[in-house]
Amino acid sequence: MPRIISFINLKGGVAKTTTTVGLATTLSGVFQKRVLVVDLDPQTNCTTMLISEQDWVKLNREGLTLHTLFSDAVYNTHRFDIGLSIQKNVSNIREVKSLDLLPSSPDLINIQDIIVHPPKKKRSYQPAAILRQALEPVMDAYDYILLDCPPNFSCMTENGFVISDGYIIPTIPDVLSTYGIPQILNKARNVSRDCGRWIRCYGIVITKYREQSRIHKRIMEELDSKHRTLPGWPPLFETVFYETSQLAEAAEYTEKNTLKQKWGYNGPSTWFESFAKEIMEMEV
Ligand SMILES: Nc1ncnc2c1ncn2[C@@H]1O[C@H](COP(=O)(O)OP(=O)(O)OP(=O)(O)O)[C@@H](O)[C@H]1O
Ligand SMILES: [Mg+2]
Repeated sequence: MPRIISFINLKGGVAKTTTTVGLATTLSGVFQKRVLVVDLDPQTNCTTMLISEQDWVKLNREGLTLHTLFSDAVYNTHRFDIGLSIQKNVSNIREVKSLDLLPSSPDLINIQDIIVHPPKKKRSYQPAAILRQALEPVMDAYDYILLDCPPNFSCMTENGFVISDGYIIPTIPDVLSTYGIPQILNKARNVSRDCGRWIRCYGIVITKYREQSRIHKRIMEELDSKHRTLPGWPPLFETVFYETSQLAEAAEYTEKNTLKQKWGYNGPSTWFESFAKEIMEMEV
């Protein structure tokens, strides 16, 4: 069975997608793990970091995205094909050879409200179980399934949560980015209770850290001390992602031979490697 991990923060722009993609490429390229990335965000950032714009436009036109899965549920059609929709051996980095992607589409924005409140008011499906049903037949083909969630508690996030073994909260160590952490922990507790299974918070990972910033340093220390003093508060990962233009530039889809060429020779590629090791060493 794969380890299934959601990346979630209610705040936008805290590097959820960058962390998901960097970890996925590292688990595959460095540690030869079989990885599936599921892009649950209608912004499609994860998708366009892993496949070319041209390929994505074609997939979207042909309905080979998560939008088809969710619209099938609403309109009782059977157009979604998991085998055709999962894109094999994605990524623009040549040494990454075992990374697949289930792509997203901006059309999810419209469908996600209809899933919860369908026009006929009668639902023949469980809104939060749609992704699980689709993924079940292919799950065993992977060591890791990583879910990039949108910055909200939409039906997409819930679909990700209910199939996850655990989740990771990427955050910039500032006031606004960390504000929603208690709500995420609460939501996870409620979802865990509803599905009768403990969905664990693996930890908080610090992103875009600025050494010169006093507030960053203070909030990082506060998050760490909360873990020691507040029951149920998640631990901090030891790996810290510093703010660097190398990571911002890596969002662009251009062909690279190696992970080091993609993420930089020192800094980001080393951070992703140590983050991947922390994750592989975590207890199940
Ligand atoms: N360590 C970093 N240093 C500098 N820029 C970074 C770093 N990590 C991510 N970025 C940049 O910050 C921006 C936001 O990152 P990203 O899209 O990964 O965040 P997100 O949390 O997924 O956002 P959203 O909530 O919109 O999905 C992007 O432009 C990304 O390239
Ligand atoms: Mg994102």
